[in-house]
Amino acid sequence: MNDPLGNSPLGGSVNTDQKLQSGQAVVTGVPLCVIGGGFVGLVTAAGFAEFGHSVICVEKDAAKLTSLEKGEVPFYERDLAELVQKNMACGKLSFSGDIDEAIKDSQVIFITVGTPSGADGRTDHTALDEVILSLSDKLNSDQIVVLKSTVPVGTGQRITRLLAEKNSQSEPIAVVNNPEFLREGNAVYDFFNPQRIVIGSSSKEASEKIVHLYRLGMIKAVPVVLTENETAEMIKYASNAFLATKVGFINELAGLCDLASVNVLEVARGMGLDPRIGPDFLDPGPGWGGSCFGKDMREIIGMAKANDYHWNIGQAVLDANEKQYDWVVSKISKLTGGLKNSKIAALGLAFKAGTSDVRDSPAIEVIKKLIEAGATVSAFDPQANGEAKIAIPELQVAESIYEAAVDADCLVILTEWQEFQLLDFTRLKQTMNQPNLVDSRNLLVPEAVRKYGLKYEGMGQR
Ligand code: UDX
Repeated sequence: MNDPLGNSPLGGSVNTDQKLQSGQAVVTGVPLCVIGGGFVGLVTAAGFAEFGHSVICVEKDAAKLTSLEKGEVPFYERDLAELVQKNMACGKLSFSGDIDEAIKDSQVIFITVGTPSGADGRTDHTALDEVILSLSDKLNSDQIVVLKSTVPVGTGQRITRLLAEKNSQSEPIAVVNNPEFLREGNAVYDFFNPQRIVIGSSSKEASEKIVHLYRLGMIKAVPVVLTENETAEMIKYASNAFLATKVGFINELAGLCDLASVNVLEVARGMGLDPRIGPDFLDPGPGWGGSCFGKDMREIIGMAKANDYHWNIGQAVLDANEKQYDWVVSKISKLTGGLKNSKIAALGLAFKAGTSDVRDSPAIEVIKKLIEAGATVSAFDPQANGEAKIAIPELQVAESIYEAAVDADCLVILTEWQEFQLLDFTRLKQTMNQPNLVDSRNLLVPEAVRKYGLKYEGMGQR
């Protein structure tokens, strides 16, 4: 499908398309609303407000709404609180608990509610359907519904049919899929610097309107993929499934490199210089985590099964990821001579640096296995202590690296926070019971650690 701008990438064209007879460029902000004030919704709402649109973000959780109305973001995401507060101050961003009020004057309604995995691994779209049903008879046909949440292939068309059935308007309500590719910890940067904008719809007019929302703020040219709803939905799943597969590949290769006494980081460098492979997502770790990779891989596997198709690679990636946790645990056990009654200091609880999110965190999975094996774990994370305590109530959380390390038989780095690269090894050696360190993120230089008399185990760095 050609870009409605005639294949010109988005951005830099704001003054061409908006020019009036007078030659004055009109940069028109659009009144829009974002339903769901979570990670994706907040970044989207504040990002579009920054572009100059007037945005109402709807959050139904009263406690979260109270925080948001005070300009407080109820989780840690780099630069997000500042972006929210700035746009609230100039009146371009506001929050509400009233969906009817919010959609009334909105030309575009973004849906960013959670679409978690259900018990069978398929996506639970209950929250999405509730929102659609609650607004279906209140929309007029020049409003556009945009599905930004990650939704199963076919959802865009299903919602189109649902709205046609429930809405009395003669003209159908346009439904657009506009998946996000935001990385937690980098989401604000990713919103303003997308690699591509994917827009799926059967309405060319609706697609153009969504392109305009982005065009208003994009400084540099960004490729726009204009396609059908289902294709846009599949692009999202396929992208995440591939990224998880790539990380899974380097994680398993690291295991082989350990046994073959090859340095996986040098192998990754040699591989990544091939543009067909690329250097990113070749850092071995304790396994991939987060609220997306596992969920999206399970959905795509479930979709395949529903079509009597076996997504073998996907299942293998899920299985390999579980084994990665065990590999970290076995490294610790080998150094301490067993886990029962041992004391382990865990540095990092979030699923990656830059966020407080512990959903599907490999750190949490490794710590659970250590506790199951009879170890006591004391953990420190600069942002995720609170969320981890909810996930593992019996976990001892420390207020600093060195508090966690007291009397430890092994220290294990599980999240790649920068402050874990600047460890005082002399102090650690004095503080710990045994001088063992497992670096599941390959953050440290093995020789440097060993020089201070600690035993070091990395991932594929033997
Ligand atoms: C991912 C996708 O990157 C993003 O495009 C999508 O919108 C949501 O899912 P996110 O889950 O926030 O983003 O984090 P990401 O940076 O992709 O990392 C996912 C997991 O892989 C993390 O646990 C991370 O630590 C791990 N990872 C990533 C590695 O172990 N090694 C790598 O080289 C890269």
